Amino acid sequence: MASAQVMNAPPIPDAVQPVKISPPLILYKPLHPTFGAEASADFSTITPELVDEIKRGLSKYGVLVFRRTGLDDARHVEMSKLFGDLDDIAPFVGGLGQKNRLSSDYLFDVGNVNPDGTVMQPGGMRDLLLRCNYHFHADSAFNPRRAGISLLLAHELPPPCLGGETEFADTRAAYQALDDARKDEIHDWVVCNSQLNCRRNANTDENGKLNPLLDTDEFDPMKHRFGKHRLVQEHEPSGRTNLYIAAHAHHVEGMSLEEGQKQLRGLLEHAGRPEFTFKVTWKDVGDLVVWDNTCTLHRSVPGNYAGKYKRDLRRTTVHDMSSQAWGLNGEGATWRSGLD
Ligand SMILES: [Fe+2]
Repeated sequence: MASAQVMNAPPIPDAVQPVKISPPLILYKPLHPTFGAEASADFSTITPELVDEIKRGLSKYGVLVFRRTGLDDARHVEMSKLFGDLDDIAPFVGGLGQKNRLSSDYLFDVGNVNPDGTVMQPGGMRDLLLRCNYHFHADSAFNPRRAGISLLLAHELPPPCLGGETEFADTRAAYQALDDARKDEIHDWVVCNSQLNCRRNANTDENGKLNPLLDTDEFDPMKHRFGKHRLVQEHEPSGRTNLYIAAHAHHVEGMSLEEGQKQLRGLLEHAGRPEFTFKVTWKDVGDLVVWDNTCTLHRSVPGNYAGKYKRDLRRTTVHDMSSQAWGLNGEGATWRSGLD
């Protein structure tokens, strides 16, 4: 009887039809009080809508950690292109003894695997250059057009507990924590960034002695161009203010070299304080970490895996698409740090 009543019931008017609610494209679980989230999404179909949602998540969190995405090189690159203009390694291939062992010039090889597939041994030139990555930095701060979003995908990982995490710092929170007088003081500073500065500092011992392999004009920051960017900038996606400081920062325009370097060291140490940082432990092949270089810093954590186990991580780098991408370097400049 009840079913007959249902069959004879008039149709529900459109106005009260139940609303179909789509599940969210990404679920977020915060990793730190001010930034970073573990995020879950379905990467089996990559759509512009998914990429837009990742961008929205980055605007708030700065760093997103996706586990076991199932992405490979080709889909990693394909998805990255939806974020904007991609940086490429073509200008660097062949220089400094580097060969590209990967399938695409859009993939930056930041792991420890040699072109012949063996584990990179400490002390070689490539190892010395990659030591810069142990220090907090923003990708491509040294180039005329800085990096916006980076996407780092795990292909092979060392056993657990041997180091190799990636640590992040929240530079919006670091700026916010400065007192008003300090904010006023640094407001108009222009920072001159050099990849060579970071590489030299990473290979200088506690007595100030530089590794002789880098004690050449080729690695002298003063003999090359600097990527100039304002220290204090609006992070356009969020409207918050960011402290754009990195280990590449060499001096402050218009300030003595010594004073500028002292000030920049202090600001970098401030941004790297424990309350502004957290570490991502890589767990599985396919783990993907996406971050916004214009509101965070990152560094690779050294460990006992070095020289023994492969840590094969590959990064795509999206040029900054904001109005401040080119800093004070002139829009359209094509030179690259260290190759000029
Ligand atoms: Fe990096």
